[in-house]
Amino acid sequence: MILVTGGAGFIGGNFVLDWLKVPGNEGIINLDKLTYAGNLATLASLKDDLRHIFVHGDIGDQVLVTRLLKEYQPRAIINFAAESHVDRSIHGPAEFVTTNIVGTFNLLECAREYWSGLSASSKNAFRFHHVSTDEVYGSLSATDPAFTETNSYEPNSPYSASKAASDHLVRAWFHTYGFPVVTTNCSNNYGPYHFPEKLIPLVILNALNGKPLPIYGDGQQIRDWLYVGDHCSAIREVLAKGKLGETYNIGGWNEKANIEVVKTICIILDELKPRIDGKSYIDQITYVKDRPGHDRRYAIDAGKIERELGWRPAETFDTGIRKTVQWYLDNPVWIEGVVSGSYRDWLSKQYN
Ligand code: NAD
Ligand code: TYD
Repeated sequence: MILVTGGAGFIGGNFVLDWLKVPGNEGIINLDKLTYAGNLATLASLKDDLRHIFVHGDIGDQVLVTRLLKEYQPRAIINFAAESHVDRSIHGPAEFVTTNIVGTFNLLECAREYWSGLSASSKNAFRFHHVSTDEVYGSLSATDPAFTETNSYEPNSPYSASKAASDHLVRAWFHTYGFPVVTTNCSNNYGPYHFPEKLIPLVILNALNGKPLPIYGDGQQIRDWLYVGDHCSAIREVLAKGKLGETYNIGGWNEKANIEVVKTICIILDELKPRIDGKSYIDQITYVKDRPGHDRRYAIDAGKIERELGWRPAETFDTGIRKTVQWYLDNPVWIEGVVSGSYRDWLSKQYN
């Protein structure tokens, strides 16, 4: 077995689905608190798959995590569980400290206790894979080189600060206790099952619903975009071949300004689902107040994972974004399930 945390969320959900598509792969215990970002509909296709065991619970629950480790004896833990949205971290940072820092601490401690009781060969094979973000490195200027694994940590938002803190705990558990960890720091993901509070799914849904497409500030902030399936394949590679105690940057070599991303989505929608008035979705673009402390540019140098583990993304931005827009057009039932009252409350808090 492997234990996945946060496997009802966007990236964790995609990881679980991809993993279980391979017939010979071992089973997954999926521990998820089902916050607003967790959605069992993402996992609906696994209803009859006995290799998927879903457990509704919190990574901060020591009794529960200890019991799950004892009962299922996983050979690895992949920690996706987190509060993940920068704007929400600005409105309410407490949950970010609780889950991202204290929750990861609890998971590390429970896992270390479990690992120290394993036989020599199981102990040797065990891995704790911590899924993190490029946002821990802070913000780049237009001319700075892309982030490498040796960049210093300079987080600027409550979200990135909480992820940075969790990365530091993971690192310390390796150096102090010899606990077998690897950490990956990935750039912005996009793809199916993405909760529509983040830029790409928000813009797709707002466009289709005739609503404004909100661009923070001047829209010239740059992110590196990676298709979620490529992030999942990188994690599988690192889980199989990554060196203990190391960190690996994961990125798509796709630096884009936000305004360019939004216009690209509009142009694809103009082709796949034209507006009835014949105008372009670009007309719905609206510049709004900037995010406080908004990081200007993220860029990932993914050279280390390419050289050492032979991983490369399969999708370009053009192929990935087209697939993503098509997925949202094809999956109205999933969308209906996530745009609940609490989602609408968030939109009015953030955008009105
Ligand atoms: P998400 O917000 O879509 O999903 C997070 C999941 O974790 C949800 O299912 C939620 O219910 C669950 N969760 C939250 N708190 C929990 C807790 N205390 N115990 C158990 N489960 C809990 O996030 P995502 O976009 O899928 O991100 C997954 C991981 O990848 C996060 O650690 C994030 O920091 C990291 N990451 C995300 C991106 C990105 O672009 N989305 C990029 C790089 C790294
Ligand atoms: P987001 O998807 O929230 O990811 P992150 O903040 O983790 O990079 O935002 C991506 C970029 O898009 C970021 O620069 C903020 C910007 N943005 C907007 O301009 N408008 C929006 O409504 C949202 C949600 C984000």
